[in-house]
Amino acid sequence: MKRLALTPFLVLLLTAVADAQPRRLSRADSLRIDSINKLTQQDYKQMLQQLNITSTRPGPSGNPQAPNAANSDESKASPYTTLPDPLLLNNGQKVTDAKAWWNKRRPELVELFDREVYGRSPKKTPKVTWEVVSTTQEMNGEIPVTVKKLVGHVDNASYPSIKVDIQLSLGTPANAKGPVPVIMEFGFVFPPGFNPPRDTSRNAPPSWQQQLLAKGWGYAVIVPTSFQADNGAGLTQGIIGLVNKGQPRKADDWGALKAWAWGASRALDYFETDKAVDARRVGIEGLSRYGKAALVAMAYEPRFAIGFIGSSGAGGAKILRRVFGEQVENLASSGEYHWFAGNFIKYAGPLTPNDLPVDAHELVALCAPRPVFISSGSLTVEGTWIDAKGMFVAGVHAGPVYTLLGKKDLGSTEMPQQETGLLNGEVAYRQHAGGHTTGPNWPFFIEYASRYLQP
Ligand code: GCU
Repeated sequence: MKRLALTPFLVLLLTAVADAQPRRLSRADSLRIDSINKLTQQDYKQMLQQLNITSTRPGPSGNPQAPNAANSDESKASPYTTLPDPLLLNNGQKVTDAKAWWNKRRPELVELFDREVYGRSPKKTPKVTWEVVSTTQEMNGEIPVTVKKLVGHVDNASYPSIKVDIQLSLGTPANAKGPVPVIMEFGFVFPPGFNPPRDTSRNAPPSWQQQLLAKGWGYAVIVPTSFQADNGAGLTQGIIGLVNKGQPRKADDWGALKAWAWGASRALDYFETDKAVDARRVGIEGLSRYGKAALVAMAYEPRFAIGFIGSSGAGGAKILRRVFGEQVENLASSGEYHWFAGNFIKYAGPLTPNDLPVDAHELVALCAPRPVFISSGSLTVEGTWIDAKGMFVAGVHAGPVYTLLGKKDLGSTEMPQQETGLLNGEVAYRQHAGGHTTGPNWPFFIEYASRYLQP
């Protein structure tokens, strides 16, 4: 993975891998990784050509010791003087009622995010046929669970050489009297050679699945990389490659975050057909890059009832104009550009983040009026790359849209102390004392969610 920037997350992973049993990459795996890197560079280059850009500004380093370390000094974090106003129409008129939000402003924001940031999802995507591969009765702790393994077969008649299958699993309490709420996670599957560290805060019993089951709810895990790879090389494969018939993307085509969100929507289609699930009460959760994906899924898919957005950072809930932690320049680099539309790269040269027509608070606003719980870890344990405050600030500035729609905002513009949640409104925020995980916030999320999901 030599082209991946050494971000704190990767440093953590690599250290943990070194501490655990180091597994040497097989020759086949290292050849595969080399080839992915090569194809990624090629794809990145062709996108720069489409954009008429010859180079981009490099991002700061995620290593706090590096000479070009990302800023972690709050006094230098907010050189911007204004943020785009989510309630100001492109023509300068103010949005003062819900109707103007739904009919005018929201579509404008969607168009801007589509064109400049996340890319346009295709007008038509191939049909997905869900197959229940297995149904088993298991015990999870004390609770009997019905576990289904599912595969969503994507119709590839238009381009048979690309085959796409969505992997999904679903666990529901076996003794449930009727359809139950479900929280679906975007699940990490690590590349070859990675022994992911045991995340004690997540794995210590009860697990998040057990906590949901104890509440009488179900859980699901969708595997994003089963249908769209997490690298630039994969952009001519997976669901993006299938729709483009193996050709490279255009500058406003969808990136991996939109593709992952598309898969989550297809999982929802399945839940609508499964009697064990109440599809009107399904939430979406993810961490880090999948926290970004969870927020994008929430913003674009109105059927998700609630979002649990874990340490999503830049490209997720963090204000992109803030000079703190990860920057647009990092996101637009060859290691991460595939999450976005090609057009987004422009903001790392010649344009700047201040030129973005939108910012992350407006992505949070697209979730309104539905509840969204923004989660972060501790500055000292998780580090500063993710920019906890930047995510809080986005929650604050999404507030006016929530209140316009008759909902409650965060209730404060002051960043609360760590482990003090702002959980009374439909925009919620809590910074836990742990690291790069949603783990310690699960009990708080579940309590928060029960206000909305409990019949
Ligand atoms: C890197 C990346 C982040 C991302 C994180 C992750 O740190 O820079 O944007 O959120 O990886 O997904 O783990």
